[in-house]
Amino acid sequence: MKSFSVKRSSTSTYGSLLEKIEILRSTLRWASKFERSEIQNLLQQCNAIRDETVMQFRKERFVQATTSGLAEADNEELEPLSRRPPRRVSAAQRRQALVDRSFVFEGVFGESPKLLEALEIGEKAAPTDLPVLIDGESGTGKELLAKVIHANGKRAGMPLISVNCGAIPDNLLESELFGHKKGAFTGATSDRKGMFETADKGTIFLDEVGDLPLHGQVKLLRVLQSNELQRVGSDHAINVDTRIVAATNKDLKVLSEKGEFREDLYYRLSVLHVTLPPLRERRDEIPLLIEFFSDEAAEQLQRSPVRLTPRLRHHLLDYPYPGNVRELRNIIFRLSCLADQSADIEHLPETVRPKTDQLSKLTAGVSTEGLSLTEMRKHASEAAELRFLEQGLHEVSGKVVELARRSGMSRSYLQTLMKKHGLSAKGFRVQRDSS
Ligand SMILES: Nc1ncnc2c1ncn2[C@@H]1O[C@H](COP(=O)(O)OP(=O)(O)OP(=O)(O)O)[C@@H](O)[C@H]1O
Ligand SMILES: [Mg+2]
Repeated sequence: MKSFSVKRSSTSTYGSLLEKIEILRSTLRWASKFERSEIQNLLQQCNAIRDETVMQFRKERFVQATTSGLAEADNEELEPLSRRPPRRVSAAQRRQALVDRSFVFEGVFGESPKLLEALEIGEKAAPTDLPVLIDGESGTGKELLAKVIHANGKRAGMPLISVNCGAIPDNLLESELFGHKKGAFTGATSDRKGMFETADKGTIFLDEVGDLPLHGQVKLLRVLQSNELQRVGSDHAINVDTRIVAATNKDLKVLSEKGEFREDLYYRLSVLHVTLPPLRERRDEIPLLIEFFSDEAAEQLQRSPVRLTPRLRHHLLDYPYPGNVRELRNIIFRLSCLADQSADIEHLPETVRPKTDQLSKLTAGVSTEGLSLTEMRKHASEAAELRFLEQGLHEVSGKVVELARRSGMSRSYLQTLMKKHGLSAKGFRVQRDSS
């Protein structure tokens, strides 16, 4: 049976994908029966085509986003010289340049200058063996950037070992990182490699490096200085060729000033220092990320990309995202899982919903530009429903039974409407109490 490599290729084109589908088709057309192993092989080929198509699709989206930005940049060229702003390389051009240089993005998406700067530093750092320190708030993409640095360098085919320095109990730390010799301590029944040796020729990602206890910091410094380590209980030095990328959401400089992190280790680790900006400092990217994650969720959940009601979109564009990109991604995956066609406030986790008193402003304030007449009618009717509920619940201090009695509507219908608008009776009780 004819088959092709199932290895993922980052350079596949639609032409080569079609060719593979044709090979598959002719195999199926001419075969009268298949053995189990042949079916397995065919399935593998189908999976390979699917994976390549997904990769090609992602790359296209990236290029598309890039070229739309380039068109804007090109238009600038039509301005007379006197009115032209000083030549700046646009975000789109910088991103396109990365694409042209076959940069491996590992799923990183975005176009803020600070993110692009981090990617460009990552690109330059990748082929070297210099240690890189990545800092930034939780959920800003530090681990993702570590993957990018590994994937773009000469160590890409070798292991990338991730260690959460804060999660290893103190007494096991040295053995986990550097290994141990048989009999070094109770329970050490055989020689064992540590994570540094496992990552030999590859990269070790030291996550939450700020949580590394001082005795671990001393050992780490020694490896950084000499490229050698000693397993616990052994006096034999072992050479290791492991590239170090470390991450933290703490300020190591401040920790070192307080004596909680060794200053010499800080300088060794931060030969290249990259800070990832929180999402609130790159709000312009939120619409792009919403679209990106909706597509990703649609792909994973085998559904069409979730649509957001105008008021939900408005709220998501305004929300502060203390959990950064991770929080935004989680929200979109949740909406994609819970909502049918279109998602609304009710599908948000409670902690993310707008406050009761913001809801009607949000609904009323949403732009209806570009909506069809049917959509505008729906929007107006929802805004009226919401105003009715808010006023009514306020008057009865959140007692749904009382509102049902006064309005002649059933309690369960009122509750359905409240759920739809993400309203909770409790919110109205609290309001009355605190006034
Ligand atoms: N620019 C981005 N484009 C696409 N996905 C992103 C981006 N930044 C972060 N993510 C996604 O957000 C989630 C969190 O990213 P990551 O684990 O790298 O963050 P982190 O900074 O290491 O967080 P923590 O400090 O909590 O460990 C992941 O699912 C990651 O894929
Ligand atoms: Mg992390």
